Amino acid sequence: MRIDVFTLFPDWFDWFGGQRHVRNVLEGGSELRFFNYRDSTPLGGGQVDDAPYGGGAGMVLRVDVVDAALRAAYEDGREPSRVVLLAPSGRRLDDALASDLAGEPHIALLCGRYEGVDERVSEHLVTDAVSVGPYVLSGGELAAMVVADAVMRKLPGALGHADSAVEESFSEALGGAPEYPHYTRPASYRGWDVPEVLVSGDHGRVREWRLEQSRKRATSRRER
Ligand SMILES: C[S@@+](CC[C@H](N)C(=O)[O-])C[C@H]1O[C@@H](n2cnc3c(N)ncnc32)[C@H](O)[C@@H]1O
Repeated sequence: MRIDVFTLFPDWFDWFGGQRHVRNVLEGGSELRFFNYRDSTPLGGGQVDDAPYGGGAGMVLRVDVVDAALRAAYEDGREPSRVVLLAPSGRRLDDALASDLAGEPHIALLCGRYEGVDERVSEHLVTDAVSVGPYVLSGGELAAMVVADAVMRKLPGALGHADSAVEESFSEALGGAPEYPHYTRPASYRGWDVPEVLVSGDHGRVREWRLEQSRKRATSRRER
């Protein structure tokens, strides 16, 4: 898979690119590339933004700048199958969307900044707008990392144990419910005991208990 990130701050991703599961995926042949809008802007002095029509606070990332960045990146014709704008107003990221994106051969993630991005980017240049939650971040970089992380851990070889990403919170294997609780040694700590079933050695009961806990968590989350 290829993931392209368009940003004004590619150095934000230095740390992300060095993480073990990301390195695993990259070593397996996937690609993570970065494009700085400033490198391809058609405007003088590295300008990428402008004042909003109609007035108001802040600056807006220009449509011609975003278009130029996409054209420069894909002049070889190897265009992404999905172009995703990170936007607070977008579709909320969930496990199904992460799986969907992980099934694509090539995606682009467009990070906004400042007051946001000219609406014509949404209207004409992207296939999806995705939000990582109902709050406002300073820029799309952290949101892009969240999307890239959720997608990349689903790719073969990302995790040490291949099954780790199959049965986890919100997965199909758990019917979309949160994962069951985990415990490890010591079996008793300050009087806080691990549930008896988990140390019983009875795999059938353990399985039943886990599915029941997962279902309970789904119900209690809805009731909250
Ligand atoms: C400061 S925000 C712009 C907020 C915008 N003025 C608003 O009120 O919706 C700048 C950029 O950060 C990114 N961003 C902020 N919050 C986000 C979120 N919850 N999900 C996805 N991207 C977000 C977007 O790319 C956005 O263009």
